[in-house]
Amino acid sequence: MIRKIAVLTSGGDAPGMNAALRVCIRAGLFYGKEMYVVYDGYKGLIEGNIQQVNKDFTADIINRGGTIIRSARLPSFKEPETIKKAIEILNDFEIDALIGIGGDGTYRGLNDLAKAGFTVVGVPATIDNDVGSTDQTIGFSTALNTICDCIDRLKDTSSSHQRCSLIEVMGRDCGDLAMYAALAEGAEGVICAEYPLKKEQLFKKLRKMKAQNKDHAIIIVSENLIDINQLAKEVEEATGFTARTEVLGRLQRGGSPTANDRILATRLASRAVEIVINEEGSRIVGMKDNAVVDFPIEEAVSMKHEHVHGLRDLIEMLQ
Ligand code: F6P
Repeated sequence: MIRKIAVLTSGGDAPGMNAALRVCIRAGLFYGKEMYVVYDGYKGLIEGNIQQVNKDFTADIINRGGTIIRSARLPSFKEPETIKKAIEILNDFEIDALIGIGGDGTYRGLNDLAKAGFTVVGVPATIDNDVGSTDQTIGFSTALNTICDCIDRLKDTSSSHQRCSLIEVMGRDCGDLAMYAALAEGAEGVICAEYPLKKEQLFKKLRKMKAQNKDHAIIIVSENLIDINQLAKEVEEATGFTARTEVLGRLQRGGSPTANDRILATRLASRAVEIVINEEGSRIVGMKDNAVVDFPIEEAVSMKHEHVHGLRDLIEMLQ
């Protein structure tokens, strides 16, 4: 019988984590369970930084960015000794199940706990949208809107100076933020893992735009792929545009979550609690074709992220 449930957030923070945390706590209390939070992700877990909470803890957090229970990256949370320590701590607190809110890295940690016999449920939250077991992760919508807001502003100044702007966005190895932003902004080009740089094709397009006296050009580039400052120099030499670069960085992770992220968080987190209450085992929740779904954790961790149907065609048209 489940009596005590703990919740943690882990990995890169994402807008909507608080909304998910709120629902986990409220739903757990609704079902008469004792609810706990673990501060600082897996790091706080092995340090025993765990606190019982009530409904008041969740007041006014649905609209707050970041995570009020903080997050951390703990690369050592895969070593058998560390996993053993985590389970000892959870047992000391008599916690029966752990809900982890985060991305791939968080799931790997949860999977190790599950393999060691502890009940866990995962809720997908990362701005990268790179989790295989869900169409959309909590935080993606907000980060995308933030990127679009920044690019709208950049377009104003780019137009005034007739410049080409190269904007680097996050996403780790996944091009979703770059591709969706390119579509939403009508960008002239996108460079990401799915669409590697084709220099000559890009330069040809920019030269043509310059010849037509176009006001500005927007090129969106995913992080960790190319040196955008070097590319900006080459754009200047090859196309006649003056070029400027912007790295949006962690600005993309901040801010109040969109309504979409708050609702996504609410739907996913409430299912996570149901799984624990119904003792359905260690699972990962997600959203597929706008329905809440869940998978056994060992299956979910090996699922590859798929792009929504038709996205590639739209990008092809744009290139
Ligand atoms: O996973 C979210 C993310 O923002 C990635 O897009 C990025 O590559 C990474 O985290 C940066 O992590 P950190 O803030 O720990 O350097």
